[in-house]
Amino acid sequence: MEGVGLRAVGSHCSLSEMDDLDLTRALDKPRLKIERKRSFDERSMSELSTGYSRHDGMHDSPRGRSVLDTPLSSARNSFEPHPMMAEAWEALRRSMVFFRGQPVGTLAAVDNTTDEVLNYDQVFVRDFVPSALAFLMNGEPDIVKHFLLKTLQLQGWEKRVDRFKLGEGVMPASFKVLHDPIRETDNIVADFGESAIGRVAPVDSGFWWIILLRAYTKSTGDLTLSETPECQKGMKLILSLCLAEGFDTFPTLLCADGCSMIDRRMGVYGYPIEIQALFFMALRSALSMLKPDGDGRECIEKIVKRLHALSFHMRSYFWLDHQNLNDIYRFKTEEYSHTAVNKFNVMPDSIPEWVFDFMPLRGGYFVGNVGPAHMDFRWFALGNCVSILSSLATPDQSMAIMDLLEHRWAELVGEMPLKICYPCLEGHEWRIVTGCDPKNTRWSYHNGGSWPVLLWQLTAACIKTGRPQIARRAVDLIESRLHRDCWPEYYDGKLGRYVGKQARKYQTWSIAGYLVAKMLLEDPSHIGMISLEEDKLMKPVIKRSASWPQL
Ligand code: GLC
Repeated sequence: MEGVGLRAVGSHCSLSEMDDLDLTRALDKPRLKIERKRSFDERSMSELSTGYSRHDGMHDSPRGRSVLDTPLSSARNSFEPHPMMAEAWEALRRSMVFFRGQPVGTLAAVDNTTDEVLNYDQVFVRDFVPSALAFLMNGEPDIVKHFLLKTLQLQGWEKRVDRFKLGEGVMPASFKVLHDPIRETDNIVADFGESAIGRVAPVDSGFWWIILLRAYTKSTGDLTLSETPECQKGMKLILSLCLAEGFDTFPTLLCADGCSMIDRRMGVYGYPIEIQALFFMALRSALSMLKPDGDGRECIEKIVKRLHALSFHMRSYFWLDHQNLNDIYRFKTEEYSHTAVNKFNVMPDSIPEWVFDFMPLRGGYFVGNVGPAHMDFRWFALGNCVSILSSLATPDQSMAIMDLLEHRWAELVGEMPLKICYPCLEGHEWRIVTGCDPKNTRWSYHNGGSWPVLLWQLTAACIKTGRPQIARRAVDLIESRLHRDCWPEYYDGKLGRYVGKQARKYQTWSIAGYLVAKMLLEDPSHIGMISLEEDKLMKPVIKRSASWPQL
């Protein structure tokens, strides 16, 4: 596939040419972007484009490029692109998919070493997000715009699983462009869960779509896309699936297993943190883009109420630190009425042994799931990073999550960033929870495997919390292996030392995630497109400690 009309930063450029290109970009682009951004900021409430913490010595230079107070090796990173960058750009461009001549997305993987393609030859909505961010950061927004419009069109399709009709707002998990070389036509097939292994619902797709629409708008300053009646309607349809009244007693979103990046049975059904964090971020993103006309106003009112309840619920009940763990350990059970402290009737005996050793005195995280008599104490990387980026986590909680990452580096990062969840399920528990899934054996794939794509989210969280040095450590680990191993989808093992048993090679989001991480470190002002500042109106009412006891 050719990158028709696209700016090529491929490996055919010599390093010095690349330097020139990069330097030009650094000199010209940020200034332009700051001006464009302003118009969007005016209407997007209190959003700022940079992190709330600047105590790491980060300053924006007049040119817009950040001067980072860091060791020499990272200063080197800013000006001499690692040779892997050029390789990554070339591989990313190879994965581009075209529909009637226009770029509309990237394939999940371009792995020529295996015949077992499954659906990796499709454009996945969630997988395209890091590709989209890389293109936006490189000043190539067209592919993102086409992707947003194409998936919006697919949303309008009638969707069925057997005889059951799905909600109007459901966005596809993935789509494929079929090229007919004889008739010279392109057609699209999409999967809304009706073909997916396990028939799983892509709950995250709609949220990522809204988040990406905001990223596009924020990065380009082009308000015309999000303001079209089609985009306004698309957002409302996605949100109406989540904001409808029902039997819910919690503001969190009830989901089936396999509803997000972890698209297999892994015991995340109920109220998984990944979905709650994305839901929160999508609600806030939509709030900054919805027009208050007609049914828009009603939708905005619902969003505001839900955000209020959701942030309270998450910050109070999903948050775990040493103090909270100790409280839960001493919980009484079977309490009835409004005075109950143990509201969900969590049995202290259900606290797994590992968490007592894992929990540092300083640090904390959002647990995997909270429901009736159910607390999943596992750590999930994506949900916690998105909580920081969306400001679902308070500033104290964000700092505590970063503290935990630093304290538990060996467990959560090991030799390959980043564990999708920690710890893994084994033996009997694995049998019961995964249904004996051979792909999800211990420390593999979704069950404690290490996913390079998560590097971009870690890096973004590090930048937002003012700790780029943590991200640099992770990038160094990636640079020592990823390219040599041909950009695998995931790694296996307690330390992430082995290329995953069934991992694809040239997995696009591993490639794009690396590029996004590098560009974020090089120019931290990019963080604005994927980060939302804390909304002062949503201040938490936290009864228990927000992070850690004073030492
Ligand atoms: C796997 C992952 C899923 C991803 C897909 C395509 O199924 O679990 O998150 O979207 O591969 O890469």
